[in-house]
Amino acid sequence: MDFFKYKNGELFCEDVPAEKIAREVGTACYVYSKATFLYHYRQIRDAFAPLNPTICYSVKSCGNLNILKFLANEGCGFDVTSGGELFRALQAGGDAKKMIYAGVGKTDQEIADGINAGIAAFNLESEEEIENVDRVAGSIGKKAIGAIRINPDVDPGAKTHAKTTTGKKETKFGVDIERAERVFEQYRNLKNLRIGGVHIHIGSPIYEVEPYVDAVKKMTALIDRLTERGHKIEWFDCGGGFGVNYEKPEQAHPVTDHARALIPLLQGKPYRIAFEPGRYIAGNAGVLLTRVLYRKQGGEKKFVIVDAGMNDLIRPTLYESYHHIWPVKPDEKNLNADRRRDFQVVAGETVDIVGPICESGDYLGRNRSLPNVKRGDLLAVFTAGAYGFAMASNYNNRPRLPEVLVDGSAYKIIRKRETLEDLVALERI
Ligand code: LLP
Repeated sequence: MDFFKYKNGELFCEDVPAEKIAREVGTACYVYSKATFLYHYRQIRDAFAPLNPTICYSVKSCGNLNILKFLANEGCGFDVTSGGELFRALQAGGDAKKMIYAGVGKTDQEIADGINAGIAAFNLESEEEIENVDRVAGSIGKKAIGAIRINPDVDPGAKTHAKTTTGKKETKFGVDIERAERVFEQYRNLKNLRIGGVHIHIGSPIYEVEPYVDAVKKMTALIDRLTERGHKIEWFDCGGGFGVNYEKPEQAHPVTDHARALIPLLQGKPYRIAFEPGRYIAGNAGVLLTRVLYRKQGGEKKFVIVDAGMNDLIRPTLYESYHHIWPVKPDEKNLNADRRRDFQVVAGETVDIVGPICESGDYLGRNRSLPNVKRGDLLAVFTAGAYGFAMASNYNNRPRLPEVLVDGSAYKIIRKRETLEDLVALERI
């Protein structure tokens, strides 16, 4: 579900023509739909309402201050994973009491900043980290609160890329479920750190319901065993990872399916529940607009060279991720080819859509059926809201793109395009 629709032969974001934004802001650029963000946030909130969970939007997926602000206004909490994300979430007016701080490598400074901000909890990933958080809290004369991230050893399903699978045994994340009770026992009486919760995040994106069900069943059994041993478990953070429709409409389960399966397992438990969705809220809320610079032929292959590259959207080359790409104004013959539903391109061609970076891996899509496009045409790369701008870099010394937020019939630049001067500013010493 999103608010990017073709009307009168061209793509609109909510009520604003994409071409208008591209013309006025320049290309390439990221364009977000506020209504889509809110729709998905509210969908998760409502689906899990019987559990009254804390929903902590995963800032890493798309962390623009202006987006965090309207989510915070809706009552959303935040999952942060670095000092930078904590800073952003606080600057956006986020409620520290609804912030959880994850990550395997928190520095002493980051730990102190989290404690001083009054965050709800650290998600703790190893024994050494537990000891360090206790020590840092003591050194600043404060108490810290934490949950232990448990590795429930579940298979996320074949569609989750190896680079984003996290809940299996062989991972740097969390503590193995077999070791969990021992670790709780070992750190029962720390002076400055109270461990009162458990956390999981089994991978991202997850396209099936079963991995969550398996993980939650293992975890509720673990919490029962911990409770029997006298540990007071006050919350269970179920993590994020709900998949979205990158390729076609029914690729991912709506969150209501996850909720239907998980609510019976969690309802009535004497502990609070949290979720950390990022992609489900942000994924379909953003597109990357890019213009065709050139076309060329390489052997049998046709290339469409555009003005966005792997530095702007790295997912295709890093994870072989599919992002649907379609002209903002398709030719008349292809007007009715509903994106993500009908790939029957009429009188089109098969092309690779590539960027300007000096690497063969710099592509946004390969072997794509596309209506014929020419220099100057505008293309939309869909489902680019999560881990799009967030993972952008300045590789090849390309200034990072502007971010634009559409709200109804108005749009606003919420991050300016970086300038050439920005590229060298920190080096003028
Ligand atoms: N919680 C924790 C502890 C996480 O590590 C993550 C994502 C999330 C929540 C949010 O997951 P989401 O709901 O957004 O799927 N760059 C990759 C994804 C890496 C995810 C890292 N952790 C991509 O572009 O697919």
